[in-house]
Amino acid sequence: MSNTEQTLSIIKPDAVERNLDSEIKNMFTLNGFKIIRDKKIKIEKLEAEKFYKVHETKPFYNDLCEYLSSGPIIVMVLEKENAVLANRELMGATNPNDAAEGTIRKKYGISIDKNSVHGSDSIENAKIEIDFFFQD
Ligand code: CMP
Repeated sequence: MSNTEQTLSIIKPDAVERNLDSEIKNMFTLNGFKIIRDKKIKIEKLEAEKFYKVHETKPFYNDLCEYLSSGPIIVMVLEKENAVLANRELMGATNPNDAAEGTIRKKYGISIDKNSVHGSDSIENAKIEIDFFFQD
């Protein structure tokens, strides 16, 4: 039975700054994802704080929000069978040092903060995160 899902992906400032967006988008399409929507934007810190609200009690929250609002990002809606899980597998572990070979974060990530991509962690959060960036 088909289980097509959508998930939100963000190409973070470290990757946009290094002009890795085409290579990362290629990794998604080569792995069977359709890029349904995408836009390059720069967000304010306040928006980053809303987006990452789930992490507000974490010690890294402030740096994380500073970082996501520090430069242009690319937000995308990706579609595929079991897209949420498939995207998390393709991204690899949060810390690039722990990420498996062939994953985006292993290939391009610099550190746990500058880990090149974000992806929704559940179907429920994917809906919330897609609505956050694509209201129309
Ligand atoms: P992301 O998938 O965008 O979700 C939250 C981000 O917080 C995560 O990627 C990391 O870039 C960042 N982060 C910084 N420190 C930590 C940490 N100790 N644990 C988890 N995420 C962290």
